[in-house]
Amino acid sequence: MANKILVTGGTGFIGSHTVVELHHAGYTPVIVDNLSNSSIKILDQLEKIIGYKPEFHEFDLCDEAKTKAFLAENPDITGIIHFAAYKAVGESVQKPLDYYKNNFVSLINLLDAYRDKAINFVFSSSCTVYGQPDVLPVTEAAPVKKAESPYGNTKQVAEEILKDTASVNKNYNIVALRYFNPVGAHESALIGELPIGVPQNLVPFITQSAIGKRGKITVFGNDYNTVDGSCIRDYIHVVDLAKAHVAAIQRMESGKSADNYEVYNIGTGKGTSVLEIIHAFEKSTGEKLDYQIGPRREGDVEQVYGDVTKSTQELGWKADLGIEEMMKSAWEWEKYIKNNPF
Ligand code: WQD
Repeated sequence: MANKILVTGGTGFIGSHTVVELHHAGYTPVIVDNLSNSSIKILDQLEKIIGYKPEFHEFDLCDEAKTKAFLAENPDITGIIHFAAYKAVGESVQKPLDYYKNNFVSLINLLDAYRDKAINFVFSSSCTVYGQPDVLPVTEAAPVKKAESPYGNTKQVAEEILKDTASVNKNYNIVALRYFNPVGAHESALIGELPIGVPQNLVPFITQSAIGKRGKITVFGNDYNTVDGSCIRDYIHVVDLAKAHVAAIQRMESGKSADNYEVYNIGTGKGTSVLEIIHAFEKSTGEKLDYQIGPRREGDVEQVYGDVTKSTQELGWKADLGIEEMMKSAWEWEKYIKNNPF
């Protein structure tokens, strides 16, 4: 029987893509999700891609009793990839207590079940922990800076919880993946990003504007100290990002990890500006975008992109897909959703 890997938040954007890659790598993915920010229809979509509906359990990981009972009933789960968390930067400023409670209680309930037995645990972290790095590209050794939002703070504190837990208990084998900016969709266009309401992130807003669901795109500032004045980010294809999670599990199974708590940057190592993304989308899809320059957005860092040397050397992982494939796949998904609304 293939190793069972629990994917919390597995009906979400990155989680569903990771379920696909786990299957392709010979694992048996098991999903737990409370569907608070995703659709159960994703299970049907996954069936179309991998040929079967993954095992799915709907409950909230903040429910200690349910979480403990589930994990006790599934001793054959050898790894956990933990995506389930609230993740909207702006919303976290309005609802800090909801973010701290949800993101910490769910994490602690999962960890608490493994005080006495081994577990390989991959945590979904974020480059947001770096704030505006002093040196670019940013390496994992860069200092963590005071988070700009409660969301960013939940990632920073979660990393501390994981580090402290691993340091006193060798049952835990933990990898934290610091994502840069996940974009794009699976080549089948059957799964992708499903933002609820008005997208806060750039690429889903672009695709919704292009399909006529939203008005003009606003570029939040073109007076930054960058190549064209707009902010720079490290955009990474969600399929490449999903594969990094499989590589992290494989690294821990190999026993090669130098430490039982490791942190890796998961990006492309390249920076792309907002205006370059807009032009790349137009070039890749042939669609003309309607955009305007607006004021800066509160809390935005000017530029951040990752040094991914450590991930390549230790995880044996590297991003393969470029901006053109990110834009094309995001657009194909947007068109699919228009014709097949969830
Ligand atoms: C990218 C750039 C905006 C929208 C956040 C989180 C990060 C992760 C990804 C969860 C910025 C500009 C955006 C628009 C714009 N979240 N922009 N017009 O802020 O880099 O990262 O989302 O995992 O943790 O911090 O991503 O896509 O919101 O913005 O000009 O309508 O696009 O100013 O420069 P961000 P983003």
